[in-house]
Amino acid sequence: MRLSRKFQKLFSRDAAQSLWEHACRWTHPVSARRILATIDRTELERLREQYPYRPNARKINAYEDAAYWIDVNVKRVQDLWLDRSRPLRILDLGSGPGYFLYLCRLFGHEGLGLDPDDEPFFRGTTRFFDVRRVIARINPQAPLPDLGKKFDLVTGHRVCFHRIARHENGEWIEWSPADWEFFINDIRTRFLKPGGRLLLEFNRRQDGSSFFTPELRDYFLSKGARIFRWKALLAADPKQRPRFKQTKR
Ligand SMILES: C[S@@+](CC[C@H](N)C(=O)[O-])C[C@H]1O[C@@H](n2cnc3c(N)ncnc32)[C@H](O)[C@@H]1O
Repeated sequence: MRLSRKFQKLFSRDAAQSLWEHACRWTHPVSARRILATIDRTELERLREQYPYRPNARKINAYEDAAYWIDVNVKRVQDLWLDRSRPLRILDLGSGPGYFLYLCRLFGHEGLGLDPDDEPFFRGTTRFFDVRRVIARINPQAPLPDLGKKFDLVTGHRVCFHRIARHENGEWIEWSPADWEFFINDIRTRFLKPGGRLLLEFNRRQDGSSFFTPELRDYFLSKGARIFRWKALLAADPKQRPRFKQTKR
């Protein structure tokens, strides 16, 4: 890599934001070790034996690795101020193994997951963590099922529900802006309390680039999102600037 590119990377927006996140977490430490101690890791390993990887499955996610996933989810909790905010009602879309909502409960929040139940291992871990979830699939331009209540926070971590199918070249065919428009409007009008927030966290693309192409960045910004690294935070009210910071306990 040329020296100028190296410097560019070093002082990029992403690097600056990463530094900021680290600094914020450092000022409000949460012990991942203490949380890990609340989990019976042999039971997680037993669940993995009971529900082995499908042939050709990518083991990169190894969700039985509690140490790794507690670390990831501690950071999510810190970044959303869930370790120090008043008790919130949280809906986690694509809740997967349930680590995030397990941590939310430890910090006094009430959580509900939503997942299509395609993965028997997630069924097992969700039960193991005693996390409540609704079985449902999010589809483009289709309203989410009525959950009978509204939430302070709706989250989607490592979002996959916007992926429709794969091209022959391996790239994903994704939701169009019109699909995002429907989804964001549905969440804002039917699932968020006044003052509520929607947090979407995306994976990198296959080539390592950000989910936020210039077009998608512009689109999310036009919806009032605050984009921070690979995350988009939206307020229930499109005219309000969303904040990671929350009212303290
Ligand atoms: C990469 S996993 C992320 C799991 C979890 N959020 C995390 O970050 O650890 C993606 C999750 O999205 C769920 N998912 C995939 N397609 C979905 C859809 N159309 N509607 C709802 N959930 C979906 C999967 O079942 C899986 O739990």
